[in-house]
Amino acid sequence: MLKFKTRLKIYLGLSAGIIVLFGATIALSQDKIDIEQFISPETCGGCHAEIFEQWENSMHNLAHKDPVYSRVSQFLRKGLINEGEIQEAESCVKCHTPVGHLTGFPEKLSDDLSKTPEIATKGIQCDYCHSVETVKRMYNNGLVLKPGQGEDDPGIKYGPFDDAEPDFHEALYSKLHTQSQICGTCHNVKHVSFGTDLETTYTEWQNSPYNSKDPAKRIECQGCHMYQRPGIPSTGSTPRPENPGSATEYSEERPHIFTHYFVGGNSSVPGTFDGHDKDQMAVERLQNAATISVDISLIEQKKLNIIVTNTGAGHSIPTGVGDLRQVWLEVTIQDKANKTSFQTGVMNDKHELSKDAVIFRTVFGDEKGNPVVNIAKAKKVLKDNRIKAKQSVIKTMDLPFIPKKDATIIARLLYRGMPQKILNLIPGKPFKPLPIVVMAKVEKRI
Ligand code: HEC
Ligand code: HEC
Ligand code: HEC
Ligand code: HEC
Ligand code: HEC
Repeated sequence: MLKFKTRLKIYLGLSAGIIVLFGATIALSQDKIDIEQFISPETCGGCHAEIFEQWENSMHNLAHKDPVYSRVSQFLRKGLINEGEIQEAESCVKCHTPVGHLTGFPEKLSDDLSKTPEIATKGIQCDYCHSVETVKRMYNNGLVLKPGQGEDDPGIKYGPFDDAEPDFHEALYSKLHTQSQICGTCHNVKHVSFGTDLETTYTEWQNSPYNSKDPAKRIECQGCHMYQRPGIPSTGSTPRPENPGSATEYSEERPHIFTHYFVGGNSSVPGTFDGHDKDQMAVERLQNAATISVDISLIEQKKLNIIVTNTGAGHSIPTGVGDLRQVWLEVTIQDKANKTSFQTGVMNDKHELSKDAVIFRTVFGDEKGNPVVNIAKAKKVLKDNRIKAKQSVIKTMDLPFIPKKDATIIARLLYRGMPQKILNLIPGKPFKPLPIVVMAKVEKRI
């Protein structure tokens, strides 16, 4: 091991040398970084107080501590014997504990995570993102960092301003920080051995109308996710007003200060860490992502068309862990007296969804094409019926009867973080059912 490390150092040294020789300006290999070089978010928060409060208990802050992630990842790691599958199951810490992984511990998921240095338990943090100099690969966290030497010599913090003159650290304008790439390299996940696309949020955005050459139509990840604040969901279907203010209490006023809530669809984990405003903001985001409508023109043929449109997300709905997130249709027909005569997409008493439910998601499979729950075994994408940005899908449902006149059709688009079935498989203290959010709802009288 020692030998390998020495060799690696020589190799890195050589490649750095070669880069210098050819006069390249971009550092392509990551220099070795010591954990002491990272400055704690609390220190940054000493001046950037508002930004700190927004980021605290965000899913970035919680990426390492998130109990759903922690228990799911340990569960998926268990019992694997295939080397390629083990490598994937061990790789999680690269994104979920990036400061630790970069500085040497944890190297892998099965390391004793209770020994993770305190600062690394704080997830994706200020000094991690703001030390990013470049990206070497657009998936599996290809960020290349150049942090300072710790609090005595904090070095350069890269950001969106070209005229900042802070007293504590140096500052430099970074175009990368204004672009989707800085997010995309972590929000595109590939199986480390089999190359299967496990998460494709960045690619989905790249292929969406939001990745437009026309600056008036172009919206980066930051354009939605770093404009949101309580009451202002800031999606593709709602206004995204600027957030005037200042980066510290004593800095000059600027037309827009990027918010750091980093809210997605997760409306349960932040709350358990006392971030209730973030739970509510996730609900607001989900409620402004899609619309639903009902077309009854085929009702005499016992058919119902449900149309769902992705109006607000800059990527598919759902995105991220598309094999886990559940976005589904619940359709109810009630007669004149409000008695339910038909229903689909409902849950049983174990909070598991019925088999007939229309779920928008990705399904992974092994080489034989059998569906797999464990991403470590994913060799193929068997199915992906998620709703792409600004696109509509029409689901035709067969009804067991022709609804009577004056019946009401109620269709809802629902969201939850993960199937209860998977949570129920995880040993230990049972998971409480995850909250269900109504993303969109429509009622139609026949
Ligand atoms: C002693 C106060 C202080 C501390 C501590 C501090 N900053 Fe700053 N920072 C400032 C000031 C002042 C500015 C300039 C704001 C402006 O020009 O609007 C600034 C600007 C920035 C910018 C914008 C740079 C640009 O050019 O766009 C970033 C990014 C930043 N800080 C990150 C951090 C991080 C990360 C930490 C912790 C490692 C940190 N700051 C700690 C005072 C501080
Ligand atoms: C996931 C990466 C990420 C994390 C974590 C993060 N930032 Fe930022 N921050 C950004 C990006 C990206 C921008 C610029 C967005 C743009 O220009 O489009 C930014 C902008 C800033 C700015 C400029 C003022 C503004 O908000 O527009 C400051 C100051 C700053 N961040 C400080 C912090 C501090 C302090 C923390 C920790 C509490 C932090 N950041 C955590 C990515 C991050
Ligand atoms: C170092 C890797 C990394 C970078 C860089 C990064 N993210 Fe993340 N992000 C993550 C991880 C890991 C999670 C999930 C943590 C969890 O759920 O346990 C996450 C979660 C999120 C969520 C919350 C998802 C939910 O379900 O609620 C949003 C929104 C988000 N990121 C947006 C962004 C944006 C916007 C940027 C760029 C400014 C960015 N991320 C940069 C790794 C990263
Ligand atoms: C046009 C606005 C918009 C843009 C641009 C955008 N998002 Fe989103 N994002 C949303 C909305 C709305 C949701 C909630 C619906 C959903 O979960 O898909 C969301 C949800 C998410 C989630 C949580 C997904 C889940 O269900 O668990 C993540 C992670 C995320 N976005 C990351 C990103 C990243 C990374 C980018 C850039 C590559 C990006 N977003 C660009 C609007 C946007
Ligand atoms: C390349 C970066 C990256 C790697 C490596 C990675 N993840 Fe993630 N993970 C993310 C991002 C980004 C999200 C947020 C997406 C979303 O919210 O849908 C996420 C979210 C999750 C969530 C959802 C958590 C919640 O609270 O709902 C789970 C579970 C998860 N990851 C498990 C894993 C496991 C297990 C591994 C290792 C086998 C792993 N991740 C490796 C980037 C990564």
